[in-house]
Amino acid sequence: MPYDFDAPVDRAGTWSLRWDRHAGEDVIPLWVADTDFRAPPAVLQAMRERLEHGVLGYTMPPGELREAIAARMERLHRWKIHPDWIVFLPGVVPGLHLAARHLMATRDHALLPRPLYHHFKRALDLAQRAYTEVPLVVSDGRWVFDERGLAASLRPESRLLFLCNPQNPGGTIFTRGELERLAEFAVRHDLRICSDEIHSEILLDRGRSHVPIASLAPEVSRRSVTLNSPNKAFNFPGAGCAWAIVEDEALRKAFTADHHATIHDPSVFGYAGSLAAYRDAGDWLDAQLEYLRGNRDRVERFVRDTPGLSLQHVEATYLAWIDCAGLPCADPQALFLKHGVALSPGEQFGGPGFVRLNFGTQRARLVRALERMASAVSSTRSR
Ligand SMILES: Cc1ncc(COP(=O)(O)O)c(C=O)c1O
Repeated sequence: MPYDFDAPVDRAGTWSLRWDRHAGEDVIPLWVADTDFRAPPAVLQAMRERLEHGVLGYTMPPGELREAIAARMERLHRWKIHPDWIVFLPGVVPGLHLAARHLMATRDHALLPRPLYHHFKRALDLAQRAYTEVPLVVSDGRWVFDERGLAASLRPESRLLFLCNPQNPGGTIFTRGELERLAEFAVRHDLRICSDEIHSEILLDRGRSHVPIASLAPEVSRRSVTLNSPNKAFNFPGAGCAWAIVEDEALRKAFTADHHATIHDPSVFGYAGSLAAYRDAGDWLDAQLEYLRGNRDRVERFVRDTPGLSLQHVEATYLAWIDCAGLPCADPQALFLKHGVALSPGEQFGGPGFVRLNFGTQRARLVRALERMASAVSSTRSR
């Protein structure tokens, strides 16, 4: 079935976080990470059918969704999980908070890469847990772990290693070898691992595959909490459904200590959408990835042709982590906003001097945004 990702969608007035912040302004918002595409028809149909039943009472996690997740992990990653290892969550972010609070004691210490999606750090700050940010480095055009930096950040009280794979904002798909070395480090130092894999199905480079770190070996699985959700790849984060996969029973018990106190279940629409996404939206996902590749290539070409900007190749995600160090400008986010494009400021992810651009939008809008960004850059030279 053909899908038209160029079809204009007006999100004004839909309570969209991304759009309503700039309501009434001539601003193209390419910041928070959802896309401007309608969710797959199969997902919308499943939600519609659930709505039409009319009773929206308390809901049990559907057994068939547990089975569908387990089957998908096996099919995509040759990772055999038991459906009972799955703990449902309303979003991946609550899972990061649970990890910070329940996988570490108050005096424990965590390691987390930088730059990184900001909710990891926020989870540790709110939980009042100590941490060290381990700078990722660019090697062969990819943001990767610096293994010496990782070792140097370790403390006797280090207990938890946070991982974001594929990486937001750097766009890296970590290779099996890179993950094996990371896992070996975690095992050697008896660290638990919390791996956020929400972008695992937004792989733009053909022939590459996602490797869940927990799938590497039983001793890695036993110390891991893997967070995932279809709401990013199939674009229904507003309906909220996510989960943690935790093999070890004691770890699962610790992770879920305050379930139903501070953390609720997903919405019934989240369950219905997730099941439909996994069962019936494979061709939609393939078509979306093809479209996103085209957008990624546009952004990469634009950055290559624009003096003052640089960008590593985006292997996965619909996010471009653009280095503006070559611009004579202290606040690139403010510069681009002044020229009508709202991007995420790099500081948010631990990278001042960078901006993060969300290219999950209709191509015509992306092209307009890039034209505005080109004018913004030119304006810094004509001062
Ligand atoms: C790495 C990462 N984790 C989690 C989230 C948000 O997850 P959720 O909406 O399921 O809480 C995002 C959204 O941008 C993300 O990029």
